[in-house]
This record gives sequence, C-alpha cells and structure tokens, in this order.
Amino acid sequence: MTATQPRQSAAPDLTGTPDAAGTPVQRRLPAAAKVDAGDLVDVSMTVNGTDVTVAVPARMHLADVLREHLGLTGTHLGCEHGVCGMCTVLVDGDAARACLLFAVQCEGAEVTTVEGLGTADDQHPLQQAFSAHHGLQCGFCTPGMLMSSYDLLTNGPDGTAVAPEELPEQMSGVICRCTGYRGILSAVADVAAEHPDGLPAPYNCASRTLVGRGGARPADAGSAQGDPDAGPAVPDEVRIPAGAPSATVSVRSTLTSDVVSVWGVIDDFDLLARCLPGAELVETLDESRYRGRATVALGPVKLRFEGLAQVVQREPAEHRLTVLAQGADSGGSATRAVIKLRVEPAEDGGCVLAADADLHLSGRIAQFGRALAGDVSRRLFEQFGRSVDEAARTGRAPDASSAGPSPLRMATGAALDALRSAAHRIRTRVQDRARSRRSSNGDS
Ligand code: FES
Ligand code: FES
Repeated sequence: MTATQPRQSAAPDLTGTPDAAGTPVQRRLPAAAKVDAGDLVDVSMTVNGTDVTVAVPARMHLADVLREHLGLTGTHLGCEHGVCGMCTVLVDGDAARACLLFAVQCEGAEVTTVEGLGTADDQHPLQQAFSAHHGLQCGFCTPGMLMSSYDLLTNGPDGTAVAPEELPEQMSGVICRCTGYRGILSAVADVAAEHPDGLPAPYNCASRTLVGRGGARPADAGSAQGDPDAGPAVPDEVRIPAGAPSATVSVRSTLTSDVVSVWGVIDDFDLLARCLPGAELVETLDESRYRGRATVALGPVKLRFEGLAQVVQREPAEHRLTVLAQGADSGGSATRAVIKLRVEPAEDGGCVLAADADLHLSGRIAQFGRALAGDVSRRLFEQFGRSVDEAARTGRAPDASSAGPSPLRMATGAALDALRSAAHRIRTRVQDRARSRRSSNGDS
C-alpha cells in the first residue's frame, strides 16, 4: 500500500459545491466576524439527515463536535493531523477529514458520518461486505475505511468500475494500524463488482433527535453562551432511534393494592415521577410532556440527566401507559427509553404492575455494558413498584429518604452482583478443571 493520499480533501470547497447538473451551488458561509477564543458560536448543519444547531468554540474541529456534542462517536480520531484518515466523513457528499475542518466551516453543510451509512439491523452493502470479508481487526479504522470507500465508489473517477488493482492506492488515504488491508480491499472490490450501476445511498439518514451536550437549546432554557453551568439541551419532543435497544428490561411487581388505586398513581404523572428513584419532575409543559431530571449512578460514576418525558399512549380502560423519555447529561451521556406500564388484577385482590423498557444508551453511560445497565434499570423498576404500592395505599409518594435504596446503592449493588457472579463462574470453572485433572490422574 502506498503512502499517497488519494481523493480525500482535507477541507471541501465550501463556496461552490456542484449540484446534480454540475452547476456550482453557492452555500451560505458564516459571516466573517471576530470572536474570542473562549466564545461559543452557533453552527447549524444537517447531520445524517437531521438538522442540528450546536454552540461550539470557533476553534473546535468537526470530529470533536460530532463526537462530543452530538454523541456520534463512530467518527474516530487517530492523528488529528490529517494523516491517518480515521476521522473521514462526508461533507456535502465528499469525503473530508473531520479533524482538519473547523465546525464553523460547516455552517449549512450536509454531513454524513458512519452512523448514517446503515444500522446494525439495516447495514449498507459496504458494511455487510466488511463483515463478510472480515475487513477489520481492532476495527478502529473501520469507520474511516467505510466512509472513504463510499466516497471512492460514489465520487471516484471510475465509480464502482474502479479496477481492483487500483484499490490499494485509491484506499491509501486511511491507514489501518492493524494492517488488515487484505480483507478491507476484498470487501470494497466485492461491493464495486456487485453494484455496476452505482452504490446505494446511505441507509440511515432519516431525521431523528441527536442528543448531545451542545444541541439546540430552547430560548428560555439558559444560554449555552456564557453560562457554563447550563444543563444539556432539552428537546421539544422525544424521538427514539431506529435499531435494537442497548438493553431491555422487563419487571413484574406483585402489589398489595388493587388495580384502580395503582392506576390512580400511574395516571397522575407528578405522583408517578416521585415514585421513580432519583427522578424529579421540573416542569409540566402540557398534558403529555414533562421536563425532568434524574440521577443515575453506575459504580463510581454519577450521572445527572436533564430531559423530557412524553406520554404517547394512555389507556385508562386497559390500565396501560406508554412513555417515551430522553435525557442527556453534561458529560455527553445520553439515554432514550420506551417505557410501557400495565396494571393487571391479581387473584388475591392485589395487582401486578408490569414495566417493560427499551433503553438506548450513548456516550459514557453506554460503556458500562448492557448487562449492568439492564440490571440497574431492573432494580430501579422493582423499587418503583414498591413505591407505587405505597402511594396507592397512602395517596402520597414515599419520602426519598424512606423510599428504599438510593440509585447509587442500587447501582453499586448491581455492580457487586455482576462481580460476584463473574467470581462464581471463575470459581466453578477452576473447580471443574481440578476435578477433571484429579479424575484423569486417578484413571492413569
Ligand atoms: S484523525 Fe483525522 S486524519 Fe487522523
Ligand atoms: S483494523 Fe485495527 S486499525 Fe484497522
């Protein structure tokens, strides 16, 4: 593989990108105003089909904005000098190194990242081919390779007619530190051969909510500019991403109270919120939308989410409620959830409260793994069931101080449980091995 840098431009032409007919389209450029290094500048762009506005320092590069402000961590950073190509994204359809572009240069631009190429359930042909050819080892270069090969097969001089022997040079703008080039080149050659009429467009560029610490902020929610303590943006409505959730939780709590009393709690959002450990209702926006905050602790990490809960289905006759929730913390963690609650009568005059939740996690919180996140959420819903039972009996939510274990203790308990069961598995394995050694020694 040669060290030549092929088609990728470090900074695309921001003044005149040709349209389909080849006519240069003049795009609005940011006014040439001077700002102080510490000032934030609003930048509006379309990322993977979604319009976003972020308030960022003028010197922040696009890759950091994508990762830190929009939670799109698929764009990787290697050298931050324009050499390795890990950070390759499409800007107005052309490959560009996101580490060499200031975000303010992308005002009005259309940016596509690897997240826009496809989803786990609906992969783009390039992603399928990388998987089929095992075109990765550690996978760190994979997003850059995917976006770069998309650009090559779409915008390259020969498109998908590119000759396989040309690929080593054409793809040399992205460096694989694992040197796993053989699988990568086979994958790209395969996709080129299978699509003689051109490569399909990215699959995952529908409008959705991007959650991050610098998203668009409502005018009355405190300006990001000059208010470093202002919390993350709260969206107007909750949108749940396509694709499989990070974790699913299903909890059935047997309560002593009857169905009608428990439904009375579920139907009263204020009371309901006070039964959720760590949650706090901040503002009722209208009859179905509520602003709130929640504190979640995972081991030593404590996250404070600000967000929106939206009731999308309320069926009193069937005692069912569906709530969408979305929150972000100032450290870049984001969570979105579909929560379904249902109350059913039990034989002893009490009832069963069923809570099912699909959790979509991104940012720091996603690093804790689906097992731990699921376990913490399960404990949260178990505690929630006990609090709802008490509220149904007394008409009041239990005091936070008497509501049982704190979110912190529950999370620590979940982590300890995970460690205990891992230790138990290891102990069992060691004992099994010792047993089989003893029995084979006895046999001989
Ligand atoms: S991180 Fe952008 S080229 Fe290396
Ligand atoms: S697969 Fe590890 S850097 Fe390319």
